[in-house]
Amino acid sequence: MCGIVGAIAERNVTPILLEGLRRLEYRGYDSAGIVTLDSRDDRLHRVRTVGKVEALAGRLQQEAVRGPLGIAHTRWATHGEPCERNAHPHLSNDSVAVVHNGIIENYQELKTKLSAAGYRFESDTDTEVVAHLIDQSLRKNGGDLLAAVRQAVSQLTGAYSLGVICREDPHRLIATRAGSPLVLGIGIEEHFIASDVFALAPVTQSFVFLEEGDVAEVRRDGFIIYDREGQPVERPLSYSGQMGSAAGKGGYRHFMLKEIFEQPGVVAETLEGRIHQGRLLEDSFGPDAGPLFEQVQGVHIIACGTSYHAGLVARYWFESLGVPCTVEVASEYRYRKGVTPPATLFVSISQSGETADTLAALRTAKERGYLSTLTICNVAESSLVRESALTLLTRAGREIGVASTKAFTTQLVALRLLSLMLGRRHGLSERDEAALVRDLELLPRALEGALELNSGIESLAEAFAEKHHALFLGRGPQYPIAMEGALKIKEISYIHAEAYPAGELKHGPLALVDADMPVICVLPKDGLLEKVLSNLQEVRARGGQLFLFADKEVDTHLSGVNTQVLSLGTVPESIAPIVFTVPLQLLAYHVAILKGTDVDQPRNLAKSVTVE
Ligand code: M6R
Repeated sequence: MCGIVGAIAERNVTPILLEGLRRLEYRGYDSAGIVTLDSRDDRLHRVRTVGKVEALAGRLQQEAVRGPLGIAHTRWATHGEPCERNAHPHLSNDSVAVVHNGIIENYQELKTKLSAAGYRFESDTDTEVVAHLIDQSLRKNGGDLLAAVRQAVSQLTGAYSLGVICREDPHRLIATRAGSPLVLGIGIEEHFIASDVFALAPVTQSFVFLEEGDVAEVRRDGFIIYDREGQPVERPLSYSGQMGSAAGKGGYRHFMLKEIFEQPGVVAETLEGRIHQGRLLEDSFGPDAGPLFEQVQGVHIIACGTSYHAGLVARYWFESLGVPCTVEVASEYRYRKGVTPPATLFVSISQSGETADTLAALRTAKERGYLSTLTICNVAESSLVRESALTLLTRAGREIGVASTKAFTTQLVALRLLSLMLGRRHGLSERDEAALVRDLELLPRALEGALELNSGIESLAEAFAEKHHALFLGRGPQYPIAMEGALKIKEISYIHAEAYPAGELKHGPLALVDADMPVICVLPKDGLLEKVLSNLQEVRARGGQLFLFADKEVDTHLSGVNTQVLSLGTVPESIAPIVFTVPLQLLAYHVAILKGTDVDQPRNLAKSVTVE
């Protein structure tokens, strides 16, 4: 899951490629590279660096790499450690240059054949085989780059989007995709390719999304797309609203903190226009939704990571409204032989809309006889949106921090809307719907209240700075919130954290509890409160340190030794999971600051996981 960008123009394309890489860094940031074909000497010039795109930008100030044709890459390592040798672009014979996003599964077999044919490999990557395959084909078949790329990809198993240039073919950039996203950007007398539209926002607003198996021949003054059978095809032209410059930090120290504080606003945005006089508007789900929802007997939710946690919360909501619901991580679902229940709506949840496992699960689901597909997604131009029958967009705005925050809370809002809409068909009365909608309308203010805990949480975080483990507890819909809290602290503080349903402690994990084990728990005023308080007594009796975030109406009876309690306002039970997420996000953030980690780009991760 890397980011690729390419350009062919009259002007020097290096600044375009560099800005594109900065915008694609969310896809990986362990190394970066660029190659251009310089018309002054008709040679390929390549620079690669380990680390973030800024390191590459620094090197480019010393080594002038320029030209009207070029491709560039920001990497998240799959095959081969992050080092300069493994960074893209990869070259063959100083003639062919390739950038790749995806995984070539049969690369070992191809590597053996190419080695026997005399090709020398410089890297440990799966990508280098592609460069050599193209070179080999060029030599065998008399030099047509388009034909050589087609021949090379016909030998590949796996997922790829590729940008290819060739020293002997200065007027063409070849692009192709299967399993990984790729878009063409249309300029005036210049054309571009990239992993997403945002990468090209400074240079164009017009795009053509390549479809599975497409190969595009991109020239300065136009392009031709061929489908997987090699026939020229027309693909629709799209215009993207994701324009403007890359978002700034708006005075915050990190994107993550900014995004946490944006939650009251983006939650209000996500509700905007979807509620009228205490009723949900069916049109929010698209014109075809109404008749379809009449038939829905159950919901099957698929997602990964944080988005999966949103699905787990929603299961409590759907089922409490009489709608059967199952939830599963996408990477399991896609390889499991499941039985599809009748009249079931397949729901995918994703911030990016490009997560490879979620996308593959959607494609699998389409073959498994679901009633229809709906995606809850934050990116209107994404593959998931394009491939789902119905869409409910979250309006979180661009999320830059790798740790998902505002995307999660807006996903919960969208899921709440969907659960009420389907609940309506399963006996939810107009009066009850109006009451639950009123709760939703309280959300922006309730989230602001939760954010007021920021400085209290900053002080409390000090107790975690030297800790190596933490336990997050919750019950009912707060259990997935505990899971999300544990994921946040793992991701950005590198503290090992586990989440448990509080009632399960006595079945094993209680053995872990001692004075070095911080135990974090959220305590809204709900039907399970007394049960959770008893579970917490069990922890305290064993010397565990309690950190509690409680509704202000909750008397924890627990203040005192080894216990710190921070109170939020009074939060209606139906929206409590959304509001109680905030203190856990802030806790993870402040612990990460004390640990000195790279909060927005934690080690080993990428924002969008576009490989399996
Ligand atoms: O873009 P998606 O929502 O599909 O991404 C799914 C996960 O990769 C993502 O939520 C990941 O777990 C986050 N880094 C968590 O903060």
